[in-house]
Amino acid sequence: MRDTEFRINKIKRMKEFFKAIQGDKFFHPFPFNDETITKILGAKKDIYRFIKDGNKVIGMWMLRGWDEGFNIPSFGMIVHPDYRGMGLGTFMLRAAINECKKMGCKKIRLTVDPENKVAIYMYKREGFKFNNGVGFKNL
Ligand SMILES: CC(C)(COP(=O)(O)OP(=O)(O)OC[C@H]1O[C@@H](n2cnc3c(N)ncnc32)[C@H](O)[C@@H]1OP(=O)(O)O)[C@@H](O)C(=O)NCCC(=O)NCCS
Repeated sequence: MRDTEFRINKIKRMKEFFKAIQGDKFFHPFPFNDETITKILGAKKDIYRFIKDGNKVIGMWMLRGWDEGFNIPSFGMIVHPDYRGMGLGTFMLRAAINECKKMGCKKIRLTVDPENKVAIYMYKREGFKFNNGVGFKNL
């Protein structure tokens, strides 16, 4: 019973977050719908982490691609629009790099829109190298 309640609350919070980030100019890796939530909750090796302020989800980062059979995970992140510019993006990016290292992963990749100046600035600062919009970092 407690497990069910926990899962329902989690889904509810994810839905609210998806509503808040729907239509983001730079972050659209998947549709923000129930099917994606089910996929995220059922992820095997892929990692999805949610940062919360109380019960509210305010940021999400992910390393995915393993479940599809790729060796190098793809990183993605988004901060709730009301919580940007407070250091959360930097925190999430560093957390993902650390988690990848702990898993023995040798490389991270990501794609970024060339207009996404803030993200590119952050990724370069953390050591990503870019080629045609694709970023790589060796760990
Ligand atoms: C990119 C994103 C994750 C950054 O998250 P954030 O929590 O706002 O980032 P931080 O607060 O850690 O800021 C990181 C740096 O960018 C700078 N920055 C943040 N927002 C900025 C803005 N609007 N204009 C200029 N600089 C900005 C900060 O000053 C900081 O630099 P500093 O440490 O030298 O001061 C967030 O803007 C976001 O969710 N964007 C939409 C989704 C997206 O683009 N995701 C990345 C592509 S996968």
